Amino acid sequence: MDRRPVSLLLDCDTGVDDALALAYLCSQPQVEIVAVTSTPGNVAADQVALNNLALLELCGRPSVPVAVGSRTPLSVPLVTTPETHGPQGVGYAQLPVPQGAVSASDAVELWVEAARARPGELTALLTAPLTNFALALRAEPRLPELLKNVVIMGGSYYYQGNTTPTAEWNTHVDPHAAAEVFAAYSGQPEEKLPLVCALETTERIEMRPEHLAALAARAGCTEPEVASAGQANGTRSRASNELVRQLSDMLRFYFAFHQQHGQGYLAHIHDYFAACVAIGTTPFRTRTATVHVETEAPRLVGTTVADFRGLWGEPPNARVVADPEPEQALAELVNAVGAFAARPRT
Ligand code: RIB
Ligand code: CA
Repeated sequence: MDRRPVSLLLDCDTGVDDALALAYLCSQPQVEIVAVTSTPGNVAADQVALNNLALLELCGRPSVPVAVGSRTPLSVPLVTTPETHGPQGVGYAQLPVPQGAVSASDAVELWVEAARARPGELTALLTAPLTNFALALRAEPRLPELLKNVVIMGGSYYYQGNTTPTAEWNTHVDPHAAAEVFAAYSGQPEEKLPLVCALETTERIEMRPEHLAALAARAGCTEPEVASAGQANGTRSRASNELVRQLSDMLRFYFAFHQQHGQGYLAHIHDYFAACVAIGTTPFRTRTATVHVETEAPRLVGTTVADFRGLWGEPPNARVVADPEPEQALAELVNAVGAFAARPRT
């Protein structure tokens, strides 16, 4: 697999799987993280920003700017999900208080300035509700042309939702922003259409305790890293490696959440898979589609529908990602983040 240089703008609502994605991106020397912007979703925006600062420092990238934009969705009240990702968005982990500070720049300004300064160079990776990205598109309608490409974790297509029976979390938190983003891409050339990683694909990437154990071993941890449903709730990791310990404490909470919802003691690592798509380290196929995001029908708000056959007679606005290779993606995670964790801290 060619690990070609990639320059990324990341917008996230860190959250456990966002954190895993961020740690993975930091493990890849060919990836330039231009900035990390913080959208409210899993937890409030200011907590997201604190998580991002702490993780970037823990992962040896303290100079990456972290910014906040909107602290609420465009039109609906903010709903967070501490029950899924923990009260601070990082499960049981207690991340160090960051040394650095959140950028004085607004996230939207940062996106627009970066895209204008480096036309055609930057990849956008969006693993949160699309609030900030929608605002950036309002501020700079040329963003689809200025960005090299866009990867979105969001939606579910002919597959059950994870927030309502038909809606996925990111599109449900801010349905109006998602609708604006897809409308902005309508009619763009195919190679510019957002690559959309949705639940029918991301839920096939199931991280299990054995993957965590293998990652810890790859990191050189002295003791086996055991996380199991049989352990008492809140059991913390005692891993000898700090990054492994922090990720393990995040995942233990997230494993338990999935088990409480009948999915098994495992973690759907949605954002990690989207990160692999963004930097080209996992295979996938795409299906061009016209995506609609419902914003009005009370029971269906946030629901995404994809027209793959042109039945609506409207131009495409997305490339829906399909055919993941879960085992390859999980092996990539274990090897990349495990080896990264083993590196001597500078
Ligand atoms: O539905 C999964 C998405 O919602 C992921 O991005 C997760 O972090 C949450 O934000
Ligand atoms: Ca997320």
